[in-house]
Amino acid sequence: MEHNEHILERYERAWIFFGLAMITVFIILIGYMMLTMGNTNPVGAGRIDATKVRTEGNFANPRVEQVGNEYVAYVQGFSFGYLPAEMKFKAGRKVTFYITSPDVQHGFQVENTNINVQVIPGEIAKLSYTFEKPGEYRIICNEYCGIGHANMISKLIVEP
Ligand code: CUA
Repeated sequence: MEHNEHILERYERAWIFFGLAMITVFIILIGYMMLTMGNTNPVGAGRIDATKVRTEGNFANPRVEQVGNEYVAYVQGFSFGYLPAEMKFKAGRKVTFYITSPDVQHGFQVENTNINVQVIPGEIAKLSYTFEKPGEYRIICNEYCGIGHANMISKLIVEP
């Protein structure tokens, strides 16, 4: 009898330990997700009919919008360039990019930052970044996309 109780107790303790371990893992995961969100890891922000990228919705009018103290940029990566052709931001302000392609897969890499996005037709990539250093940043396509791939270059300007 006494022996059985002892085993039961150990069994319970093991379960409590297991529960605590799971909670710890869960908290670490949530913390990690919160840290990486709002960072430059692109996330899928929805789907769009690739054949309508040029004619309907926000991407038909590629632009940089100032929203309060931040920016929102709607960007098209196409064969072979980017729209808007030039983007300007003030340093130190958060920029949220929405990027998609109307044709084939492209890249959206901004030099001297960790921005590096796969631009997939029909998928909207979203990422946020705050440019701290004023200057010109080259945007390059790092996915082979056809004959004009090597010339698929643009730039963005960060003003002080
Ligand atoms: Cu677009 Cu390579």
